[in-house]
Formats: sequence, structure tokens, C-alpha cells
Amino acid sequence: LPVRKLGIFGGGTVGGGIVEIIQKKQDYFKELTGHGIEVAKICVRDASKKRDFDVPSGCIVTENYDDILDDDSIDMVVEVMGGTTDAKDVVFKALSKGKDVVTANKALIAKDLPEIEEKLEQCPGAEFRYEAAVCGGIPIIRSMQSDFPGDDIDMLSGIINGCTNFMLTSMDKGGKSYDEALAEASALGYAEADPTLDVGGFDARSKLRILMRLAFGIDVDEEDIACRGITELSKLDFDYAKMMGGTIKLVGVAKKVDEESVAAFVSPCYVTSDDSLSSVNGATNAVEVISSNLQSSTYIGQGAGRYPTANSCINDIVALAKGDKAPMPFNPFGKGKKFVNSYDSVF
Ligand code: NDP
Ligand code: HSE
Repeated sequence: LPVRKLGIFGGGTVGGGIVEIIQKKQDYFKELTGHGIEVAKICVRDASKKRDFDVPSGCIVTENYDDILDDDSIDMVVEVMGGTTDAKDVVFKALSKGKDVVTANKALIAKDLPEIEEKLEQCPGAEFRYEAAVCGGIPIIRSMQSDFPGDDIDMLSGIINGCTNFMLTSMDKGGKSYDEALAEASALGYAEADPTLDVGGFDARSKLRILMRLAFGIDVDEEDIACRGITELSKLDFDYAKMMGGTIKLVGVAKKVDEESVAAFVSPCYVTSDDSLSSVNGATNAVEVISSNLQSSTYIGQGAGRYPTANSCINDIVALAKGDKAPMPFNPFGKGKKFVNSYDSVF
């Protein structure tokens, strides 16, 4: 069988990690998939920029999208450049050309999910996988797609943004200022290219919107989800929280109100010291799913950063390269459900 040739859009934190892992594991991937995986081209904004990873020999670094999209030998596109305009173009064109797509882009999926579903229906030959888009290294998408067919999810909640959890931990336990904590999170590759998405709660909201689709089937406009970030938190808030024996975490919650409706929010919350979320620190994410059969299941792990996120992309890439049958990308069984935008409905 011929080698699977990849075109990667983005050679930053996540893209670099993907290239490194493929290089390191190429012999194993060859055995595992029967034909191997090769990074043929990488598309970036500035091809002359020095990369912090080794570009594989023979791999072309380009600024021209069509170098990948028009290359028929490339049958898998990995979109890790971010944003919702150029990235959308790339993803839609790749699907139109029958190329499989792996993406880590929650902003794009959350914003354009109905359109993406429509596109996937029009392109039955192309697969779409997005494990890295929610909670970085935690295999939450795969679990939500595969592990609940006989179950009914009532609620999901937790810490779903690594950057802000890292910042809150540094501010609470490390005595760092907001600005110092954000600078450190950015340097470690946890923050979005526009960190307003993290600190404003919007990245968590995008992820919650995607999880809600998988858990409840509901299609909600993400802008309708009540959202407050961490920008207004001060040392005083942490002092009060400490005084009461707890801490503050940025939490996303989505809860079934009744059979027909779901409520959700993203907000900083006071958590008591006996709450399991209080000990989830750094860039770690944790999502608790409450369901009828399994009752409480918690998914915990690194929610951001180069290797945890690249690992999730690699899992998608390897699954596609092996020809594993793809699970249904989203949950179509809840489109009639109503969204109730109210904190009261959650508590
Ligand atoms: P970076 O900013 O580190 O890297 C982005 C890369 O994409 C850069 O190489 C950049 O090129 C390239 N790029 C950006 N815009 C364009 C464009 N318009 N055309 C061509 N190339 C472009 O981002 P990350 O790697 O951190 O994130 C990538 C994606 O992964 C985002 O969707 C993000 O939300 C998602 N993600 C990130 C996680 C993380 O922990 N970092 C975790 C989970 C998901 P150049 O280098 O030349 O500037
Ligand atoms: N900026 C995001 C976060 C990256 O910190 O969670 C992972 O999605």
C-alpha cells in the first residue's frame, strides 16, 4: 500500500508536535497502518520563519494553500492553524476534494457546526475527526461518540480550558499576578493566538457547545450560552475563597432541564476544598459526565500544550491511516431540543 501523505496547515505549537511525533514513531506507524504516514507539506503564514522542530527531509514548507489542496497525492489534511475564516476555507476545500480532515479547531467547529455537518453529508468519501478540539489530550470526543449509545446523559461539567486553569493555579498557589500568569501560559503554548478567547471564557464556551451537541444532540448558537471569563478576578477573590476554605475555577456546565431542554453556562465558580475540581491544577482539564447507567464518569488529563494536543491529533491520523471505521462525528438525535439560557435552570 502507498504511504499516507499528510498536508499540515500550521507549524506552531500543535503542528510542530504532530511532525515530531510522526518522525519519532515512523517505523511503528508503518507497522501499525501497513503503509506508513509521511508529512509531505506544511503550510504556514511565514515559510521563512525558523521552526522549533525539525522539518522532515523532503517535506515542503509553503505559504500557498493550493500547494496542499491541489496535490492529489495528499489525501489527509491536518488543520492546526486556528481561526475561523482561512481555516474554514481550507477544511471545506479539503473535504470537497475528498481528503480526510483532522482538526484541533474548536472555534471553527463551534461556530459553523451545522454547515460542517451539511458539508460532510455532501462529501461522504471524506472523514472528519477532531479529538484535539476539546480538552487537548483527553480522549473525550471519542468517549462521547462511542461510550454512551445505551445511556442518557443528564449533565456534564468541569474545567475545559487549560490556559485559564493554569493561570488560576499560578495566581492562587504561586502568588503570580494575572499578567505574569498569562505570559507564562502563553510561553508554554497553552493560550490561543488571541488569548481573549481563553480569559474571556469563549474557548471554554466553544468546547461546551461541541460537548453539548455530542451529549444531548442539541444545536445551540454558542453566543447564547451565558459566559463569563476570569478577567475580573482579583487577589481579593482568591483571598475570600481561601478564607472560606476553597478556591476559584473556571467551570463549564451543561445540564438537561427536562427531556426537551438543556441549560448551560461558563463562569468562574467557588469550589470547596472537598470538591474534586479544587485539586485539578495547571493545564489539567477534568470533565464529569453524569448519566443514567454509568452515573458519574470523570475524564481528566492535560487540556492544552504541544504534546498532549498533538497526541490527540495523532490518534485521529493513525485511526484514519489504519482505515478504522469512523464513528458518527456528531450526535444528530436532539435537534428539536430547546436551549434554556439561565443559571437558575442549572442549579
Ligand atoms: P500556533 O499559533 O502556535 O500556530 C499556528 C500555526 O498556524 C503557525 O505555524 C502559523 O504560521 C500558522 N497559521 C496561522 N494562521 C495562518 C493562516 N491564515 N495561513 C497559514 N498559516 C497560518 O497555534 P496552536 O498550534 O497553539 O493552535 C493551533 C490550533 O490548535 C488552534 O485551532 C487551537 O485552538 C488548537 N488547539 C491548540 C491547543 C494548544 O494547547 N495550543 C490545544 C487544543 C487545540 P506561522 O508560524 O508562520 O506564523
Ligand atoms: N487554549 C486552549 C486551552 C487550548 O487552554 O484550553 C486547548 O484547547
